Amino acid sequence: MTNGIRAKRAQFEHVSLSFDTPKGRLNVVEDVNYDINDGDFIAVIGPSGCGKTTMMSMLAGFQKPTTGNVLFDGAPVKGPGPERGVIFQEYGVFPWLTVKQNIAFGLNLKANHVPASERDEICDHYLELMGLADFANSYPKHLSGGMRQRLAIARAYAVKPQFLLMDEPFGALDPLTRAELQKEFKQLQQRLRKTVVFVTHDVSEALLLGNRIALMESGSLHGVYTPQEFVTKPDALVRRYVEAFQATQHIFQT
Ligand SMILES: Nc1ncnc2c1ncn2[C@@H]1O[C@H](COP(=O)(O)OP(=O)(O)O)[C@@H](O)[C@H]1O
Ligand SMILES: [Mg+2]
Repeated sequence: MTNGIRAKRAQFEHVSLSFDTPKGRLNVVEDVNYDINDGDFIAVIGPSGCGKTTMMSMLAGFQKPTTGNVLFDGAPVKGPGPERGVIFQEYGVFPWLTVKQNIAFGLNLKANHVPASERDEICDHYLELMGLADFANSYPKHLSGGMRQRLAIARAYAVKPQFLLMDEPFGALDPLTRAELQKEFKQLQQRLRKTVVFVTHDVSEALLLGNRIALMESGSLHGVYTPQEFVTKPDALVRRYVEAFQATQHIFQT
């Protein structure tokens, strides 16, 4: 048993989700069973349309399973909550608020119970940590893509959730900015050790950040592997991902 005695943080129990479409019933997620333990960093990969975002949105509380249960700390997820921070590409930042107001947003919500006297200090801490101090009063439209995602991370971290859901957070960034943010995020993660579920279509990003690689295929969880298992697994589908990744690596092996 690789998960030791760590507490179960989130559980998928026979989770399925389907939609009625003009063409009939569409099964988007099918019978997923998986426990997420404290301290896991699960990188979810799989082709477009395989159900990754739907899985995340059930954990975030934006969608409900058609059958089965999604549990967080042992209780069914009924809606969004401050203990589950969300960083989705499209829900990143509020354009009508300044950088500092964006970070303060969650701190000002009553549900988060942050004393007013501490909010300013917390904002300044995350502005500094994410290299945004000089842009505190700027609006998101004046930031680069990388800075906007730093802001999204700062906003999510400011309310100190133990659990983070990230859906292709670096997907829209150019390769250099992306690599820089991956490195920064990995360092941040090594310090703060949140439990994270991170969707990416980039195998190298999954291997760099994840301590578990969850491979989805057509709504099902094909398997969950450590990075070492993933690169050595004889499974045909896993091999296709690893070979696609390795195809660009030969140039480094002189
Ligand atoms: N509201 C909806 N109605 C019908 N189909 C949907 C809806 N939302 C998502 N889908 C379908 O569910 C499938 C999985 O979507 P999604 O979870 O976004 O996949 P991924 O994030 O892996 O690309 C897709 O085929 C998508 O078209
Ligand atoms: Mg998606």
